Amino acid sequence: MAEDLKVAAGTKEEQYVGLLPQTRALLEGEDDLVANMANFVAALKEQFNFFWVGFYLVKEDELVLGPFQGPIACTRIRKGKGVCGTSWEKGETIIVPDVEKFPGHIACSSLSQSEIVVPVFKDGSVVAVLDVDSSELNSFDEIDQRYLEEMVKFITW
Ligand code: SME
Repeated sequence: MAEDLKVAAGTKEEQYVGLLPQTRALLEGEDDLVANMANFVAALKEQFNFFWVGFYLVKEDELVLGPFQGPIACTRIRKGKGVCGTSWEKGETIIVPDVEKFPGHIACSSLSQSEIVVPVFKDGSVVAVLDVDSSELNSFDEIDQRYLEEMVKFITW
């Protein structure tokens, strides 16, 4: 396959509509988890230039940092801690319009201002979370939730 991502223009939804099939094509036919997670976050970063995009993987009783794009980040997060640990515990997507207002938010970078965390499921259990951070307030809404929840299903285990 061609290795160039076609970066879509337009509204946020139009950008996701352009990105989604390309991400599916990028990942299908490859079963290596790290390779797929790495390309997944690179594609999101290239399309949206988010401040930080990455996966944390469930390993025993903690989340451990996986493939990401952006500044260095915290390596381990306990279940129920921060936005990521809360998303894991609840098994649901969490949108944080202002990280200062999320009790227990873990500030890996002081530049991050809003965040969305989407759980990745295997056989009904959370096996990882996708964390996307923005350096602006109020960056994420139900459009991000809908498309990111759809896209994380392309990550196969
Ligand atoms: N803010 C996250 C921690 C991960 S970093 O943002 C990359 C949290 O509260 O779980």
